[in-house]
Parts: sequence; C-alpha cells; structure tokens
Amino acid sequence: MRYRSLGCTGLQVSEIGYGAWGIGARQWIGAEDAQSLAALHAARDAGVNFFDTALAYGEGHSERLLARAFGASPEVIIASKVPPKNLIWPARPQSTLAEVFPRAHVLACLENSLRNLGRERLDLFQFHVWNDAWADDPEWLATVDEIKAAGKVRCIGISINDHQPANSLRALASGRIQVVQVIYNLFDQSPDDELFPVCAARSIGVIARVPFDEGSLTGQIRPDTSFPAEDWRHLYFAGDRKRQVWERVQHLCRDLGIRPEDLPAIALRFCLSSPVVSTVIPGMRSPRHVQANAGASDEGPLTPAALAIAHAHRWVRNF
Ligand SMILES: NC(=O)c1ccc[n+]([C@@H]2O[C@H](COP(=O)([O-])OP(=O)(O)OC[C@H]3O[C@@H](n4cnc5c(N)ncnc54)[C@H](OP(=O)(O)O)[C@@H]3O)[C@@H](O)[C@H]2O)c1
Repeated sequence: MRYRSLGCTGLQVSEIGYGAWGIGARQWIGAEDAQSLAALHAARDAGVNFFDTALAYGEGHSERLLARAFGASPEVIIASKVPPKNLIWPARPQSTLAEVFPRAHVLACLENSLRNLGRERLDLFQFHVWNDAWADDPEWLATVDEIKAAGKVRCIGISINDHQPANSLRALASGRIQVVQVIYNLFDQSPDDELFPVCAARSIGVIARVPFDEGSLTGQIRPDTSFPAEDWRHLYFAGDRKRQVWERVQHLCRDLGIRPEDLPAIALRFCLSSPVVSTVIPGMRSPRHVQANAGASDEGPLTPAALAIAHAHRWVRNF
C-alpha cells in the first residue's frame, strides 16, 4: 500500500481508503455485521488507514462498527459527516443554511458521531451536502471556527453533492475547508475540469468517492442484474441504465485489451492517476473485495496509453 498527503492537513492516508456506506446496512441490502467486521480488519491488514463514514449510514451503525473494529486507535484515520437537518440529499439550490446546517444541529451531530465512534476527536468532519451560496454565511463560518477551536475535529471538509464538483469553489476560497470528497471515476471525470485545478493550487485534500460508479465499473452489472426494491441501486440502475452500463463496459474492456474481471483495479488506478487525488474510497463489504482493491495501489497509475483510452470513455449523463 502506498500513502499520500491529505492536502495540507499533515495526515498521510492510504491510496486505497474504505467507503463505509454499504456496511451501514440500510440502503445496501445484504450487509452482515460479521462479514463487515472481517472486511474492516482485512483492510487494516492490507495497510488501509483511512475510513469514510457518516452519521447517516445506518443511523450511526457504520460508525459503531468502526468503533467495534478499531476502538480509538490513533493509527486509524476516520472521516465522518454531519447530515442535513432537513434530510434532503442533495441540497436544493433554494435551501437555506438555517434549514440544513444550523449551528445547534451541527454541534449535536458531531457529539453523536464522537459517541458512536468512541473518540474524543474526529480526524475529518465533513458537511454531507453542500450549496455554495452558504459559503459566506456568518453562521456557517462561526460554527466551523467554533468546532475547530474546541479541538474536537482535526480538519473540516465538504462532501460535494453528486455530479456538481464546481458547487464548492466559493467554500474553498473561504479558507475554512481543507478536504473535499467528490464523485470521481472513469465515467464521471467532471472534477478534472474546474475542481481539481483549484484543489492543486490550494493544497486541498481530495477524496475520490464512488470509484466504481456504484458497481458499473466492476463489470458485475449486467442487463438482467436485479436489486431488491429496498436497495437504493434498484433506482440508480433503473430504466435502460443496466444495458447502457453493460455495453459501455464491454466497449471499454475491448479498447483496453482487458477482461471484465480486471476492470475494478483499472477503475481504482484511473482515480489514482490524478496526482490531486489523495485517496480513493471504494465501498467493499467482503474481505475478498478488500484484498483485490488494496492491491491496486501497488500497481501504480495507469500508463499514458491506458489513460488516454480511459479519458475517451468519459460518460456525460443527465442523472
Ligand atoms: N454523499 C456522500 O458523501 C457519498 C455518497 C456516496 C458514497 N460515498 C462514500 O463513497 C464510498 C464508495 O461509494 P459506494 O460504496 O457508493 O460505491 P462504489 O465504491 O462505486 O461501488 C461499491 C460496489 O462495488 C462492489 N465492489 C467493491 N470492490 C469490488 C471488486 N473488487 N470486485 C467487484 N465488485 C466490487 C461493492 O460490492 P460489496 O459491497 O459487496 O463488496 C459494491 O457493490 C461509500 O461507501 C461512501 O463512503 C459518499
């Protein structure tokens, strides 16, 4: 496992981090705690030291599993998130800060996360939705300053709304944000356009999330794949999406000259080919997936030829 700086935070994070949404076991059907704990331990054994969770993942269940697996070990870097008070993902353009992140809500959620995690301090505290209109709201600025001054978080981040990478640039200019988390994968390459140059210029840490496009880039989504109605992927892969994904994946693998089973490692290495990315955080609920994904770090970035092919497979969608 290789490690990179998380922007200017002083933290060294594993190139492959751990996305802990799925183990929250509410919207991802089929997670079993025993297997999730085994996957978390396998990740540590493979050198993973960065774990991304949220108070909203299983209403604290994901955070509590992390506490069961690792206690308050200082070698394990934990990022969590404060959910929007109105529970609307993503933030609506017309939503006010008072509706979404009022001071009292943010402080109460931080205390809940610390309790779930069994820690006195969080390494990274992220806003789970964002609307850049709030970037100079005096209440937000004061809340962020208050949290940092209290010593309960090491650094502050924004988990940017899905597919809106530029909806964070004003917040970055505020100087209050050290880390952003953004969807970045071989299909959605939009952060390359505006966000990543700003992150490079300002030494902002970058967490690349959803590296497999929720499973598309694992090669496992087929036209006849089905998900239980309660699993959120039932909606994500609704309509004709599974067939589109399957055809694009076949085309991509042909162009790269690889087998579909080799695609997950390529998808992770695509993210790590950007020097701006600090860590990539696949969701992985089985030790088998953890071991396969952790190995992608040692293989290094894609070759220039493979990267050129990957860039040609950018997929602009209206979600
Ligand atoms: N708004 C936000 O802040 C936000 C939103 C979405 C995600 N996130 C974060 O980003 C993380 C990653 O995103 P995600 O989990 O939604 O999607 P993802 O990482 O794109 O895909 C996860 C899927 O890939 C499968 N998988 C993992 N490794 C594999 C391998 N080697 N071979 C085949 N299949 C493999 C997983 O299966 P198994 O689970 O069965 O192993 C799971 O079905 C989340 O866990 C969360 O921490 C944040």
